[in-house]
Amino acid sequence: MKKKIAVLTGAGVSAESGISTFRDSGGLWDNYNVEDVASIDGWYRNPGLVLDFYNTRRKELASASPNAAHLAIAGLEKDYDVTVITQNVDNLHERAGSTRIIHLHGELTKVRPEDSCNDRDGFSEAKVFDIGYGEIHLGDLSPDGVQLRPHIVWFGEAVPKIESAIDAVEAADILLIVGTSLQVYPAAGLYRYAGRNTPIYIIDPKDVPAYDRRITHIRNVATAGMEEFRRILERQKAD
Ligand code: OAD
Repeated sequence: MKKKIAVLTGAGVSAESGISTFRDSGGLWDNYNVEDVASIDGWYRNPGLVLDFYNTRRKELASASPNAAHLAIAGLEKDYDVTVITQNVDNLHERAGSTRIIHLHGELTKVRPEDSCNDRDGFSEAKVFDIGYGEIHLGDLSPDGVQLRPHIVWFGEAVPKIESAIDAVEAADILLIVGTSLQVYPAAGLYRYAGRNTPIYIIDPKDVPAYDRRITHIRNVATAGMEEFRRILERQKAD
């Protein structure tokens, strides 16, 4: 049986594809107020601004491609049973070939009616549909006549996929974390569900606020860090 690897990714894994991170200097939250464009209150205050923000993100994604880190994560499936848990709303893991992906914070290329919220029971998947890299505007309605919103989990909303993410981390033999500042919960707390003796590798060029004896910090960007991680796996196989 293949060993299980859970991979938790954040904006840093897509940085080398040219997609801005949020909290690095020059990142998205330097240029936008997170409360305005990525919270449920922001949506009700000024939905046009929110739609513009995500229309721009979708356009940016259309011209981006998976980088060597996304490809290396997909390549792990050759030897391991891999679940990717991503906070990213881009589709670069899919385009790199990963087959099991949990999108904790939603997906940029999908929309749903604004009355299907991330409530306690989660939104109705049946109402979610793909718009590719197109735009949505005020007045664009679902088949049942409700304003469309981006299929994104905003601040102030529940995270319906967190339970399946916890299951994947609990079941993992190895946990790999790539390119997240671990500032946003509940994703930031996921590593605590790893088994008592499960090794945790964190790839990030900067310090990250995770302190645990199981953690090995690979202080590098995602592409080079994934090469180091592969070498660690090879050495483990040889032992
Ligand atoms: P952040 O922008 O908070 O953190 C990005 C992390 O990536 C930092 O730790 C950087 O050091 C690291 N990084 C930068 N360049 C890198 C590279 N080339 N290779 C590897 N790592 C690199 O992004 P997230 O942690 O993903 O949510 O942010 C979490 C959530 O906060 C997002 O999903 C988003 C945001 O607000 C919503 O919008 C709901």
